[in-house]
Amino acid sequence: MEDKLAINGGKPVREIPLPPPYAGAGMYGEEEKKAVLEVLDRKSPFRYYGPDVAGKVKAFEKSFAQKIGTRHALGVTSGTASLVVALKALGIGPGDKVIIPANTFIATAGAVVIAGAVPVFADIDESLNIDPGDIERAADKHTKAVITVPILGNPCEMDRIMKTAEKCNLLVIEDVAQSCGCKYKGRYAGSFGDAGCFSLQINKIITTGEGGIVVTGNDRFYERAVRYHDHGMFREKEGFLATRDEDDIFVGQNYRMSEITGAVALEQLKKLDYIIDSMRRIKYRIKEQVKGIHGLGFRKINDEAGDAGNVLLIMLPDKDSAARFSNALNAENISNSPLYGGRPVYMHPQIFNQKTADKNGFSLNRSGDKTVYEMGMCPHTEEQLPKNICITICPTFSEKDADDIVRGIRKVARQIL
Ligand SMILES: Cc1ncc(COP(=O)(O)O)c(C=O)c1O
Repeated sequence: MEDKLAINGGKPVREIPLPPPYAGAGMYGEEEKKAVLEVLDRKSPFRYYGPDVAGKVKAFEKSFAQKIGTRHALGVTSGTASLVVALKALGIGPGDKVIIPANTFIATAGAVVIAGAVPVFADIDESLNIDPGDIERAADKHTKAVITVPILGNPCEMDRIMKTAEKCNLLVIEDVAQSCGCKYKGRYAGSFGDAGCFSLQINKIITTGEGGIVVTGNDRFYERAVRYHDHGMFREKEGFLATRDEDDIFVGQNYRMSEITGAVALEQLKKLDYIIDSMRRIKYRIKEQVKGIHGLGFRKINDEAGDAGNVLLIMLPDKDSAARFSNALNAENISNSPLYGGRPVYMHPQIFNQKTADKNGFSLNRSGDKTVYEMGMCPHTEEQLPKNICITICPTFSEKDADDIVRGIRKVARQIL
């Protein structure tokens, strides 16, 4: 029978898999190659000095800040590093609590722990992003900040979040690692809070393989971020520090971005608009054709005009149907997977059991209250996440690829839902 599922021995919708799911890397071309070669030719891969520094990192930072609409941007070595640098720039550490959404990559929670603070979890809403209405519940007198995470291209409701943060006296860090270029009400994610953090790792919308960026509109936070990412040094050569405040010196890390990374990042940034436009066109071409299928839903997109379009996230009626749908669709050569295995971030054993690499354990309990993580903390996250499957959209997908995805979804839905 024509409609026999590939998982049951039928003919798959596609003979070959979809193109590899790497948006930015898929767009690498002569521009990136030339830029890297320029750095090598100059024999100057270090941003601060060398025989003939091209200033690629500096140029990238300037362009990125302009693009996102913030005063400052600082290149770092990863998205995780960007979170740690932002937390430290904002003065967050032992004794402080930081609210994060229960649905995020482990790095959001990990960075808070590495910074010496305590992650506490807020529930998500139908958008699978942080529920702005749950932030106040999660806050107490130790809470210094909230980290928002626009999940897979879906912007957070920043107007409600900023209002609540102001009411509860919280700093706001935006972890935009997965969603560079997404917007809320016409404004780029990352430009609303006290700091914004981005990743350039290979899965991300623009990529250098590894890399990250911190943005901020606050001169003081920027200056602290620069020092923290560079051994706590005052590099007056950089020109932004005329005086040394001896009362505000501290030990830092080395999270400096190399000129080779900066060279690739600068070229990738020029392609960001094209990448987003292409992904959005493909995603909404698919979504239009599969909406209305009985039993198949979508997460709420907080601002469709600002959706980065990098993932079509489908919601199924329950955990079992999601697993069956996912397996059947993979067999049709439409690759997909559940976000974070369908589990809240606090279910990672190292978070749940409060384990760190040193013998002192989590620094969680220094704030005076014992922190307990348990199932049931964020019921909506626990209920919603097992029902999702994600299809990654690439700017290199053709219309035929998009239509194959539609055919695959319809075929599997007919048999399973
Ligand atoms: C939400 C979120 N935060 C932080 C990170 C960490 O970024 P990186 O892998 O560049 O350290 C990621 C990476 O996947 C992420 O998805």
